[in-house]
Amino acid sequence: MSEHLQIIQGSKAEQYQALIPQIKGLLSGETDLIANLANLTAALKTQFGWLWVGFYLVKENELVLGPFQGPIACTRIQKGRGVCGSSWASASILIVPDVEKFPGHIACSSLSKSEIVLPLIKAGEVWGVLDIDSSDYNQFDETDRQYLEELVGLL
Ligand code: SME
Repeated sequence: MSEHLQIIQGSKAEQYQALIPQIKGLLSGETDLIANLANLTAALKTQFGWLWVGFYLVKENELVLGPFQGPIACTRIQKGRGVCGSSWASASILIVPDVEKFPGHIACSSLSKSEIVLPLIKAGEVWGVLDIDSSDYNQFDETDRQYLEELVGLL
């Protein structure tokens, strides 16, 4: 496994296209889930510089903070609460261009302005979510949805 991440400039799609094979390499060399989640957050944060990239994992019917990169965050989120809990409840990807306009948004950091959350699904069950926050509005779109969906599919 290479422990060096090659950071590239370019369009968002080009950045994902260069990053995804490297992440595949990282994940294929390791079987431990937490190690892989941790490296995935580091790779995404390093390439894109977002405010916060992290996982929440379903434990005893709530989301509990998992590996992340960024400022300290809320540790537990109930099903249906906030963007993460809504993504879990609906098993769907949520893109929020302005977090202040999302009813029930949980503000772990006042710097967060936009957000994307992807559910992690195995055998029809959501077992966690990937949450990414940006300090700018309107930072996530269909390109992020497409490539991040591919990434979480590797887990
Ligand atoms: N904003 C999220 C909570 C998690 S933090 O952003 C890290 C939400 O509304 O679910």
